[in-house]
Amino acid sequence: MTQPRQTQDSRIDREWWKEAVVYQVYPRSFNDSDGDGIGDIPGITERVDYLDELGVDVVWLSPVYDSPNHDNGYDIRDYRAINEEFGDMADWERLRDALHDRDMKLIMDLVVNHTSNEHEWFRRSRRGEGEYADYYHWVEGEPDDPPNNWQSLFGGSAWSYDDEREAWYLHVFNENQPDLNWRNPDVREAVKEIVTWWVDRGIDGFRMDAISHLSKTEGYPDGDPEEPGPLGSEHYTFGPRLGEYLDELGAVVPEEAMSAGEMGGADADDAREFVRRGDCLDMVFHFDHLDVDQADDWTDDNWGEWSLPEFKELMTRNQRAVAEPAWEALFLGNHDHPRIVSRFGDDSYRRRSATCIATFLLTMRGTPYLYQGQELGMTNSEFESLSEIDDAMTVGLVEDMLSAGTVDSFDDVREAVNYRSRDHARTPMHWSDDDGAGFTDGDPWLALNDNYTEVNAAAARADEGSVFHHYRRLIELRDDDPVFVYGDYDPLLPDDDQFYAFTRQLDGERRLVVCNWSDEPATFDPEGFTADGAEIIVSNCDDAPADPVGATVRPFEAVVYEL
Ligand code: NOJ
Repeated sequence: MTQPRQTQDSRIDREWWKEAVVYQVYPRSFNDSDGDGIGDIPGITERVDYLDELGVDVVWLSPVYDSPNHDNGYDIRDYRAINEEFGDMADWERLRDALHDRDMKLIMDLVVNHTSNEHEWFRRSRRGEGEYADYYHWVEGEPDDPPNNWQSLFGGSAWSYDDEREAWYLHVFNENQPDLNWRNPDVREAVKEIVTWWVDRGIDGFRMDAISHLSKTEGYPDGDPEEPGPLGSEHYTFGPRLGEYLDELGAVVPEEAMSAGEMGGADADDAREFVRRGDCLDMVFHFDHLDVDQADDWTDDNWGEWSLPEFKELMTRNQRAVAEPAWEALFLGNHDHPRIVSRFGDDSYRRRSATCIATFLLTMRGTPYLYQGQELGMTNSEFESLSEIDDAMTVGLVEDMLSAGTVDSFDDVREAVNYRSRDHARTPMHWSDDDGAGFTDGDPWLALNDNYTEVNAAAARADEGSVFHHYRRLIELRDDDPVFVYGDYDPLLPDDDQFYAFTRQLDGERRLVVCNWSDEPATFDPEGFTADGAEIIVSNCDDAPADPVGATVRPFEAVVYEL
């Protein structure tokens, strides 16, 4: 990693992971080296030079562990083995070394809220075997009478009955993902051993999955119908011992490692509290800014309606309440969310809106995360039926609604499914316009987006004006200029419904970011603001206005200035 110019500001607490840009690889959909239609680890290694050219500093690898794949690897059968479809440990070591040779770091996904129901611990636990008996949340009872009314985040009851043990077990996600019982000190020790095992293999940190669900309310009381989220979720999210568990985990994560915790249900205050709490989490993925475009119900027809002023308010709150006093994970998408151009940009202004969003994201305070394909401006697909969907969450929730009779057919939820499905992000990467998009020589495990002939890495690399090269330039800028990493953030025009504009400031140096986040031209004229002598550093259009104040800014035009 290149080091940014030294800053003189004594308030700056420099850390390598604050100065990094992270790239998330979803292995199944990244690059297939052996023609079976499934991405694999040698395939990722083949593309390390591409990541190096883009300039990212860290790769976050979504799970590559042995798994029966009910939730594409987020259901782990063996934490110390590699999924055969992806290769073996020697392949993983080659990938690690290829990244390290190019001065890039590698962080692994730590999925320890739950395991697969095929994990040896669960197999022993369901037999009631010795120390494993209490590894999961078991409640004795009758097969037709679950312990309480808690619902799973993936639809249906959060309890499943196990015939072998003749008891119910808890699963916040699907029935193949039983929750580990963190109240049991042996479970916590076993998890810490996994952490140490991977640290000893030379990784640089972790993205910690579903970390807000580790601690559950003591006992298993009923859910309160007034609470937001699935019934009972208040009892399995931010439970009373969460901080204690994270402290314990933090004690075995080395000081210099990077750790980012995924905290569904967290708002800015929770995120700040957990980052500042101790040594476990350097930053938190919280999703409150991504609620901006969600409808209340799957049958609503207003999915995807959102307002820029509200979005700015949420982002500004995150900058002020999290990024400045603590640190922030900056992201708009990942493998669980739609493609960000289709969601927050405009497919008919694909290149311009993708680069506009890139400009905003990479000039904010925090550590930016790119999800594979974002650097190409990949877009959403269209799903005609449930059978085209692989995503366990969408399938689980829709099947649940169909069987409960709350909806009659797929058509009732078509809009919501096409808006929310996690498969938008999981369609394979587009490397070229060859058959199989250069992703595979075989049949891709999930249908490709048809636009791969136009939107692909080969075309993007050959075109200096592409989304790829815009990301590359922004990453370089961030590597070079500490103002974008550590500077204070001050929004301009907070109520304007076209501009997202702000300044960043550090050690007397100021930068200005002006994004016209709309499909209409607009005049930039914040009251009392002057930008005399402004110099353009990066822009996504030719002939950007030299002095932005009073200038007309084109649809989705985005310009960064040194003031
Ligand atoms: C969050 C992960 O990002 C998601 O893909 C997964 O389904 C759940 N956690 C359960 O592990």
